[in-house]
Amino acid sequence: PTAAFAAAFDRLITARLLADGCTGRAVVLDAALDVTFRAICEMLIGPQEDAHKLGQLQSDVMDVTQAMLALPIRLPGTRFYRGLQARKRIMDALRQEICMRRENGLKLDRRDDFLQTLLLKSHMDSPEEALTDEQILDNILTLIIAGQVTTATAITWMVKYLGDNTDLQEKLRSIQLDLASKHHDAPLTLQHLNTMDYAYKTVKESLRMATIVSWFPRVALKDCQVAGFHIKKDWIINVDARSIHYDPAVYDNPTLFDPSRFNDDMKPYSFLVFGAGSRTCLGMNLAKIMMLIFLHRLITNFSRWEMADHDTSLEKWAMFPRLKNGCPIRLTPIRKDKMH
Ligand code: HEM
Repeated sequence: PTAAFAAAFDRLITARLLADGCTGRAVVLDAALDVTFRAICEMLIGPQEDAHKLGQLQSDVMDVTQAMLALPIRLPGTRFYRGLQARKRIMDALRQEICMRRENGLKLDRRDDFLQTLLLKSHMDSPEEALTDEQILDNILTLIIAGQVTTATAITWMVKYLGDNTDLQEKLRSIQLDLASKHHDAPLTLQHLNTMDYAYKTVKESLRMATIVSWFPRVALKDCQVAGFHIKKDWIINVDARSIHYDPAVYDNPTLFDPSRFNDDMKPYSFLVFGAGSRTCLGMNLAKIMMLIFLHRLITNFSRWEMADHDTSLEKWAMFPRLKNGCPIRLTPIRKDKMH
């Protein structure tokens, strides 16, 4: 499934960049939200042919995400209310999809998406163990929400950091073009991604600098001691990942964007972009794959990009810190005939 996911993402981003390349401009956040959403949906509920339905689902998911930080006021017109309505529409659409699959006969259906896997499993499991339809739907929506905005935001920061660091952009481009010429422009596979050492370090450095999930809360299950501090049972503890990622005792010169810092071994628990321990991000491999493919396609299709708007103000009330302008860039396509 991971290989199929990488292939789907590669297909989607290649098409998107081709279209953006024609206009010479892109708003990175919009492009990233679009392709991450499509790839994740394809993995979870299979390819969707009805563009209108997919568009509605995407805008409903966005409304749900935006309601998550809103004041819980259930009155028409509020962000919270819009989120509730959107969630209802999403669940209705997914319920219809489940009905349709059951009517067609689950076992005859040759789909291999996540929804199908869950449906088949709950069909086979004993009634006490089987997931209910509502639990299946909740799982699907959770994965879309956990995966789309996080990854799209990370991609946006990565493009911004490289837009600000043109030397690094150049260095990475020459490495990636070299790799691309060895792949003969074939669709990217996991094997290709495994050879992208410097690009991978660039992804990690972007994740460190951006720290999309700034902190995560935990509840102490028993009295304990951490680094000399007494922590009592039931206390709520915030793990402040951003402070760790910007601690000069952990990362030299932490405000500098420097992928090569990952040449060295890291201290344990110093890289918390995906959390740590038993609740570590379930989608971290998928996220890294999306970031690497996006980066490779962007850097090998355009001879440079630069910020089209230098305003660095952040969006207020966003779930994760992100640029208000969504990071608009100007793109200069590479003339492929010049490359070889
Ligand atoms: C760059 C992108 C991403 C970042 C920065 C990120 C970050 C995180 C972090 C920090 C946590 C742990 C939160 C905690 O400990 O309280 C987490 C959990 C989780 N993430 Fe991600 N994530 C990303 C992408 C994804 C993707 C693509 C998916 C799936 C499609 C996903 C699914 C999940 C799930 C299901 C959990 C909950 C795991 C659990 O509680 O057992 N994430 N993520």
